[in-house]
Amino acid sequence: MRKKWMGLSLGLMLAIGLAACGGGDNADNNNTDNNTGGETATNDAEEIVKNNCISCHGENLEGRNGPELAHIGAELSKDEILDVIENGRTGMPPNIITGDDADKVAQWLSEKK
Ligand code: HEC
Repeated sequence: MRKKWMGLSLGLMLAIGLAACGGGDNADNNNTDNNTGGETATNDAEEIVKNNCISCHGENLEGRNGPELAHIGAELSKDEILDVIENGRTGMPPNIITGDDADKVAQWLSEKK
């Protein structure tokens, strides 16, 4: 009795395995799409900073009216950066960017060490 079931499930696994391989091409294409999406998200943060922050923090975040941000991740955590974005600082208006944009930028800057 048991052996029969083993045989059955082995056959099933083979069938599933083959099906998975057959569909592999599609899965790969989907993965490629997802990867592209991930890269876009990173570029998004950079894009947002270019549009909103470099007038004060410099084109390469090297500092201008505002302090250098190129290595801000070594000093501030993501949450602390988010706090600066939300509340502003002397000479820096609050909520220049909000919501997802603010979150993305804070994450991106916190990785600059
Ligand atoms: C109008 C000019 C201006 C703009 C635009 C601006 N900042 Fe600032 N920012 C400043 C100034 C000035 C300071 C320093 C404030 C102080 O002395 O505490 C500062 C400080 C900061 C700090 C803290 C730095 C530290 O060493 O503590 C962070 C983080 C920051 N800005 C991020 C941003 C981000 C992200 C943006 C874009 C969304 C942005 N800033 C846009 C002027 C600006």
